[in-house]
Amino acid sequence: MNEEFAREVKEGLSAKPKYLSSKWFYDEIGDQLFVNIMNMPEYYLTDAEFEIFSEQTTEIVRALTEDVSKMALYELGAGDGTKTIELLKSMNSNEFVYHPIDISQNALDNLKVRLHNELPEIEAKPLQGEYFQVLDSLSVDNATNKVILFLGSNLGNMYDDVAKEFMGQLAQSMQSGDKLLLGLDKIKSVDVVLPAYNDKQGYTRDFNLNLLSRINKELDGDFDVASFQHVPKYDEESGIASSALVSSKKQKVNIGKISKTFHFEEGEPIHTEISRKYDLQILDKVIEGSGLRIIREFNDSRKYFMNVLLIKS
Ligand SMILES: C[S@@+](CC[C@H](N)C(=O)[O-])C[C@H]1O[C@@H](n2cnc3c(N)ncnc32)[C@H](O)[C@@H]1O
Repeated sequence: MNEEFAREVKEGLSAKPKYLSSKWFYDEIGDQLFVNIMNMPEYYLTDAEFEIFSEQTTEIVRALTEDVSKMALYELGAGDGTKTIELLKSMNSNEFVYHPIDISQNALDNLKVRLHNELPEIEAKPLQGEYFQVLDSLSVDNATNKVILFLGSNLGNMYDDVAKEFMGQLAQSMQSGDKLLLGLDKIKSVDVVLPAYNDKQGYTRDFNLNLLSRINKELDGDFDVASFQHVPKYDEESGIASSALVSSKKQKVNIGKISKTFHFEEGEPIHTEISRKYDLQILDKVIEGSGLRIIREFNDSRKYFMNVLLIKS
């Protein structure tokens, strides 16, 4: 049993309001559903970041490698790596080792096969675990600069206070001159944002509901998955999209491996994910005091998404 998963499910479903962390979306089924979501026309985020990487490759690679003599390349939450591969194609494979980090072993296994087939010259050393578990266990010599990729609007899955703590902790694992490339979804109107979390094919719904199926499978739960509805929202004012699974009836759910029964009222939500949209002012607040400084910004042609390059002072 994954003890961490069990502990967090117990904590989240005992809280008021109930919540489950989005990091548990990614088992074998969740990984595939997320790939399906990324291929949906409504999920503009992937296309926009891919466009930045494919149209501005030379500029980005130059900015990443400038003033970096020896580089170790890390990626937090690498997933299927499609966009990263676009970037790696233009980087000199002799000059670095690529370390994709992901909580999902399945995602890393798939990525390793892909890299082997598409870019066999790249030396890849995948690392499975939570971002900081892995980052804290790493030490590089003083002559090596870390370049860290954190793409796909992953930072947006954190509330601002958590993101601020995260960036502070990330900065502490970096030395002066190390760089961080962030992929951030920009604040924009509801008619563009909301469909990205409510695709017509229902992949986002299935992706959220799969979390309940995962609890049933791994923790011996008896969620009646069909009695929960996926409800996405987007607040244009705050720039925060959020998803919840809402119980369509009064019911109880037993989870055998944590020896607990949870009660649900009709209409009661389990919060599963937030997707914070950014502008540079919000990012400035999130990195304040961390020692990180913004040095470049790359936008797609529609200005939906930005990749921001930061350096540790
Ligand atoms: C939204 S997907 C993005 C994937 C990829 N970066 C992209 O842009 O397409 C998030 C990825 O981060 C991983 N992940 C989420 N939370 C994590 C955590 N706390 N530690 C390590 N990996 C995590 C997931 O397994 C998943 O592969």
